[in-house]
Parts: sequence; C-alpha cells; structure tokens
Amino acid sequence: MKSLLIAYHSQSGASAQLARAAWRGAQAEPEVRVTVQRVWDAGTADLVQADALLLVMAENSGALSGAMKDFLDRTFYPSIEEGLVLPYALLVSAGNDGRGAVRQAQRILSGYPFPAAAEPLILRGEVTGAHLRSGEELGQAFAAGLVMGIF
Ligand SMILES: Cc1cc2nc3c(=O)[nH]c(=O)nc-3n(C[C@H](O)[C@H](O)[C@H](O)COP(=O)(O)O)c2cc1C
Repeated sequence: MKSLLIAYHSQSGASAQLARAAWRGAQAEPEVRVTVQRVWDAGTADLVQADALLLVMAENSGALSGAMKDFLDRTFYPSIEEGLVLPYALLVSAGNDGRGAVRQAQRILSGYPFPAAAEPLILRGEVTGAHLRSGEELGQAFAAGLVMGIF
C-alpha cells in the first residue's frame, strides 16, 4: 500500500476545492492511501509517513502562499535529516499568473531534494468544473504512477 499526502493551503476556498478534487481522483486507485491535510496541521512526521506529496496552494504576491512557505521552511532540515526523497507534484490556484509560485516551489523542493513527478498544474481564475476535472486527473495520474512505481 502506497501513501499519497495532499498538503494544501487555502484562504478563500479555491485551493481547498482543488485539493478535494485531487483527492477524489486519487481515490480511483485502491492501492493508494490518500491523506489530505492543511499545511498548518502538517509537519515532517506526515512526510515520513508518505511515499509521495502533492502540494496545493495559491500564488500570492508573485510567490508561494505564506502558509505553504511556512510548511516548507519547517520541514526542510528535518526532511534532509530523515533522508526523505518524495516525488512531488504542484497544483496552483492563481488569479492570472501562478508562475512565481511554481518557480519558488520548484527551487525550494530541489533542495530537499524531492524529484518532480509531473508538470506543475496552474489553474487561473475562479474555480470551474474544468478546473476540478483537471485536479481530479492530476490526483488520479499521480496515484496511478505511484502504484506502477514509475516515480
Ligand atoms: C494577497 C493576495 C495576493 C495574490 N497575488 C496573486 C499573484 O501574485 N498572482 C496571481 O496570479 N494571483 C494572485 N492572487 C490571486 C489568488 O492566487 C487566487 O485568488 C487564488 O485562487 C486564491 O486561492 P486560495 O484563496 O484558495 O488561497 C492573490 C490573492 C491574494 C489574496
């Protein structure tokens, strides 16, 4: 049984909707235990339990949402000490850009070092049905890849 941690931060609920969509998609893989946690409640102990990590957050002021940055700041050295190498994916809710958040996340995660398991997914504007389907597809593909051992 593999374990996928979906860690998210959301201010208005947009990123939370996307995290739930990714969770629904990942549920299609019965051999994956999917855990969804707000980053405020998550820490290194949760990463240690996981085989893969999906981060879901907004771009705020051209960067990662502050709470997601805090999560990464808190877990950086402890993850290195644990020797964690988790494949990760990024799901970013943005008004009209999102690239700053992706760049910053990629740069930070390369230091853990965690390998990227998928292209980052940026979804711009209000959350739509198409966005939710994209989030579900990402969750399902990530979980399926985890079962197949391709990461
Ligand atoms: C303080 C603040 C700063 C923002 N800065 C950006 C930005 O730099 N680029 C962008 O594309 N969207 C920006 N947005 C829009 C959010 O990324 C977008 O509304 C997102 O869906 C919010 O998701 P959340 O409420 O779940 O955190 C900003 C929103 C806020 C509240």
